[in-house]
Amino acid sequence: MNIDHVATLRNARGGTHPDPIAAAWAAIQAGADGITAHLREDRRHMRDEDMTRLQALCSSENIPLNMEMAATIEMQDIALAISPRAVCIVPERREERTTEGGLDVAGGHNHIAPIAGRLADNGMRVSLFIEANEAQIEASASTMAQVVEFHTGAYAHALDAGDQDKAAAVLKTLQDGAVLAHDMGLEVHFGHGLTFENVGAIAAIPQATELNIGHFIIGEAVFMGLEAAIKDMRTMMNTAREVVK
Ligand code: PXP
Repeated sequence: MNIDHVATLRNARGGTHPDPIAAAWAAIQAGADGITAHLREDRRHMRDEDMTRLQALCSSENIPLNMEMAATIEMQDIALAISPRAVCIVPERREERTTEGGLDVAGGHNHIAPIAGRLADNGMRVSLFIEANEAQIEASASTMAQVVEFHTGAYAHALDAGDQDKAAAVLKTLQDGAVLAHDMGLEVHFGHGLTFENVGAIAAIPQATELNIGHFIIGEAVFMGLEAAIKDMRTMMNTAREVVK
């Protein structure tokens, strides 16, 4: 469960409510397997002290905290200080509204690999957020990252636009990418833009071991509450996995 947008709402008023740490606690009670939070360079949602408090909560509840971060020395040093169970290295451009597209591990290997290595050497499970294509998967496998997270935004957008052919083609790319990454020894995660409508096909990919979902669940919580939104999403994921078995 990605709780960034609880902090977005808090920051809209500049105060302390709603508290993302309280949301993380509620998410854990509702059955989330892990908490994800993105400390952006511009601190637009999570703040440094949020990450410290989240790590304290997650370690006391024995739940993994997955810190999303840009491949910068500043973020590397914060991750080393906080020591979350997992980190996910993502591309970051200040002008973007959200993480629009995967990391260029192939092009930026000399820059990304040392940061991934340093974090992995310090006991963190390192993930790289990439598009599911061969060049990026192969480049990721040549770093010390143990995980790739495939960007599902193009699949979500194609379905939103009613373009079934494009959605089917993107889904096939995600499925093929999962097979390739798994064969190369990488754990395969998925995330971005997942909703009640599109989660089933992604959860059904046999190699998928983790989905990271934020915006839709926080939005849906306005109508049905956080606990119900998480439970419904979880049921849909579990149902899709049952069908695969
Ligand atoms: N995974 C990663 C790596 C992300 O950066 C994000 C946020 O963009 C998500 C998952 C969650 O995406 P969403 O908020 O659209 O569910």
